[in-house]
Amino acid sequence: MMETELKFTQEQGEWLEDNLSSFRELMAYYRCAMMEMETKFNVLNEELSLEYDRNPIETVKVRLKNFRSIMDKLQRRELPLSIKSIEQNIFDIAGIRVICSFPEDIYMLAESVLRQDDVVLVEKKDYIAHPKPNGYRSLHLILEIPIFLHKEKRMMKVEVQLRTIAMDWWASLEHKIRYKKGLPEHEKIFAELKECAEISMELDYRMDAIRKKIEQTAGVEFMV
Ligand code: GTP
Ligand code: MG
Repeated sequence: MMETELKFTQEQGEWLEDNLSSFRELMAYYRCAMMEMETKFNVLNEELSLEYDRNPIETVKVRLKNFRSIMDKLQRRELPLSIKSIEQNIFDIAGIRVICSFPEDIYMLAESVLRQDDVVLVEKKDYIAHPKPNGYRSLHLILEIPIFLHKEKRMMKVEVQLRTIAMDWWASLEHKIRYKKGLPEHEKIFAELKECAEISMELDYRMDAIRKKIEQTAGVEFMV
């Protein structure tokens, strides 16, 4: 086992050495797409805060998948090792996480982005309407957007995860626990996490209801 891992790592290392400039170039394109996408959300937040005096977005986090994780994913899926294969098979190299205050903001923002005429929807997974069996909730979109280079326009894929603060809080703890080996009372912890996911969902909707009441009482136009 160890030997094959080492062997494959060596193969990956050699591949990277031979393809370093193309790999760097591809990553630069993903970085640009990630910036474009981040800007789209910042623009929406700016506009909505001017118009409705409310920022639907708490934070936007971006991350570019590193070489190691890209290689692991190719290996796990038994996909060939090439620039073309990376681009055709891995959709989450450029990742954006948009943390919202309220569940309704998530759908409002997703719809706004999807209406933009340079955005193409590749895949949508609604884990809010259909949470994962462990309780995970978020709205996942794989989008394709253009980046404009000096000689060409290039369509790049970006993974967008939209969540509330509560969904993000839950997911970050679940992520930490998932990779902890030999946890005592493992099953019990997972059952408890699932229960926390359900409680957090209820809180999300209660908070949303409170917000609506406040906005209606204050006579603020409700934007969702
Ligand atoms: P991968 O992209 O290989 O993970 O498979 P997939 O495309 O089937 O995954 P999916 O779209 O369901 O999820 C992709 C990303 O969402 C993951 O990389 C995580 O960031 C996040 N995610 C999905 N499920 C969970 C979960 O159960 N717990 C946590 N903490 N995060 C999750
Ligand atoms: Mg994925």
